[in-house]
Amino acid sequence: MPEAPLPKDFLWGFATASYQIEGAPHEDGREDSIWDVFCRIPGKIADASSGDVACDSYHRTHEDIALLRECRAKAYRFSLSWSRIIPLGGRNDPVNEKGLQYYVQLVDDLHAAGIEPMITLFHWDLPAELDKRYGGLLNKEEFVKDYENYARVVFKAMGSKVKYWITYNEPWCSSILGYSTGLFAPGHTSDRTKSAIGDSSREPWIVGHNLLIAHGAAVKAYRDDFREKDGGQIGITLNGDWVEPWDADDPADVEACDRKIEFAICWFGDPIYFGKYPDSMRKQLGDRLPQFTEEEIALVKGSNDFYGMNHYCANYIKHKDGPAEPEDFTGNLEMLMENKAGESIGPETQSVWLRPYPIGFRKLMKWLSDRYGGPVFYVTENGTSLKGENDLPLDELLQDDFRCEYFRGYIGALAAARSKDGVDVRGYMAWSLMDNFEWAEGYETRFGVTYVDYNGGQKRHPKKSAKAIGDIFDGLMEKE
Ligand code: NOJ
Repeated sequence: MPEAPLPKDFLWGFATASYQIEGAPHEDGREDSIWDVFCRIPGKIADASSGDVACDSYHRTHEDIALLRECRAKAYRFSLSWSRIIPLGGRNDPVNEKGLQYYVQLVDDLHAAGIEPMITLFHWDLPAELDKRYGGLLNKEEFVKDYENYARVVFKAMGSKVKYWITYNEPWCSSILGYSTGLFAPGHTSDRTKSAIGDSSREPWIVGHNLLIAHGAAVKAYRDDFREKDGGQIGITLNGDWVEPWDADDPADVEACDRKIEFAICWFGDPIYFGKYPDSMRKQLGDRLPQFTEEEIALVKGSNDFYGMNHYCANYIKHKDGPAEPEDFTGNLEMLMENKAGESIGPETQSVWLRPYPIGFRKLMKWLSDRYGGPVFYVTENGTSLKGENDLPLDELLQDDFRCEYFRGYIGALAAARSKDGVDVRGYMAWSLMDNFEWAEGYETRFGVTYVDYNGGQKRHPKKSAKAIGDIFDGLMEKE
């Protein structure tokens, strides 16, 4: 019998995020987050929807836990709505006990069901008041203090119950999509010539910097005052997809591939593991990329107990000649779906940016493991939408072979990264437990292993993939 590539304590399960599933935006004291405000701006969300109802999970946590059990999940990654816990967000604003208790109860219920909670403190839904009051993520002094205070409130209430903490989900998205392309809340775009802070081509880099400092402050708070007795682990979740050169024979394209990963991932990873930004970024961005003070370096360097990795797909990369535009955030390159020979990186999905390429997952894990000296990884998201899924009749939609194939490919790649490349990956959360509010794409794009009937009483129908994931892990894990 061949050796199983995954140990029996490998933690696998499913992920969601508060604004994408909860609904109940003004119940039990919750106030607006920047996403509530953003969804009200005409034209921002493809189907003009919002997270007002979403999957109504605020009222259906028992159904969600039942789904997790049915899928045989060992863990559940979910995020907290800061606006439920401290509705106005700030350190001098009141804590909303009802909001806090909702999550304490969820954690208790998960434990009672034998499911390990993994909590993301902040998955993009900043309390709207903080944006209004002082510019939100752009204001380092205020934001870092308020975020640390919020994190402490949460650790105090749940620190002893939860072993896995994630400070922030995909800071690249908040910084670039929120402050350069305007696709995400709060919707700043690089064509704004001036902003509250100054030159708009600086905003995403300022936001990224502030998120790193806030992450460091929350980690320090946890380590100093909670971890010792609570014995958990804390890290940040970075997004990052794999890249292949558009022309493998062109050294400039090969080099551009590394630069792309540096701009997308090492922007956050390097400060956390090395205490500095990548040279390629400093070279292109100059003083628009903030400098770390000694104090900030001390806070940020070494601040990951584990590397939280979200991963979905890959692109071909073609370098650009000449100097980068001031608004460029890619590393002066083009991201393409076909290479020079006209080969596609993977099949189309409902998401324009997503083409499955499982081997890229293995390659990226190895790349990151080599760069950062073999950290512990938890894959905190991985999944796919499926082209045209929303238009299929229910019985066909539930037979989501495409998604099953995706998970087989990606989980297989993970197992190979662990057993053959020596990557220390200890967990995997599929995105997502159920269809949900896919941000600017609204509800038409479905990522769930469970179909949610938004017009049919929110009924949940597990798709074929809901069971397939458990079967894949059964086949790869050492037996009890
Ligand atoms: C990553 C994000 O964290 C999640 O919120 C989103 O729904 C998925 N990508 C799919 O786009």
